[in-house]
Amino acid sequence: MLLQLKQLLTPDEVAQARQLLGRDAPWLDGRVSAGSQARTRKSNQQLAQDSAVSRQLQALVRQALQREPLFLSAALPRRIYNPLFNRYGGETNAFGPHVDGAVMHSASTGEWVRSDISCTLFLSEPQDYDGGELCVQDSWGSRGIKLAAGDAVLYPGTSVHEVTPVTRGVRLASFFWIESMVRSDEQRRLLFDLDMNLLKLRAQLGETTETIALTGVYHNLLREWAST
Ligand code: NI
Repeated sequence: MLLQLKQLLTPDEVAQARQLLGRDAPWLDGRVSAGSQARTRKSNQQLAQDSAVSRQLQALVRQALQREPLFLSAALPRRIYNPLFNRYGGETNAFGPHVDGAVMHSASTGEWVRSDISCTLFLSEPQDYDGGELCVQDSWGSRGIKLAAGDAVLYPGTSVHEVTPVTRGVRLASFFWIESMVRSDEQRRLLFDLDMNLLKLRAQLGETTETIALTGVYHNLLREWAST
């Protein structure tokens, strides 16, 4: 499932993030965190994970995720990899087609996170750079995604994806992985559909005997499928 999270960060938070990622930020060669296959495709810069700037930005992103009901319903997060930050522009401007590792180890938290879901949070405005689309391959072919600053996209961790070359300007983003309580993309999608439509039914009809029963179905399915 591909899902857009609009305005995950407020305009103020985006401005704060961009300021922190400015001239003095400790950028490193992005290949430090890539596996052997991805390393040959990756040409970008990544923020040093153990820096004070990075910790401040991670807290900002984590808070935003926790207050976003759409994220919680769609991802059913069990563990979230500490958000990373990257920069595409100039000579280091692309990340060719690759798959993310299935299990990622975070050096800063010591945690292992299974990458059921990938997330990219855009921090630059689309008009400030050319290229830099996140292209995700699915059964319909490749989809190019380029969102407003502050918006994020969730996409399956299982997909082949790439970031096309940035030919003008700079593209700043945060990216990370989510291990879900529900491992299967199909099962998560069913739960998300049920949850979203129950919200609409409740808004239309108020709480009824049927909405209560269907809420029970939701929770009983989650109980069947979730591991905590
Ligand atoms: Ni990737």
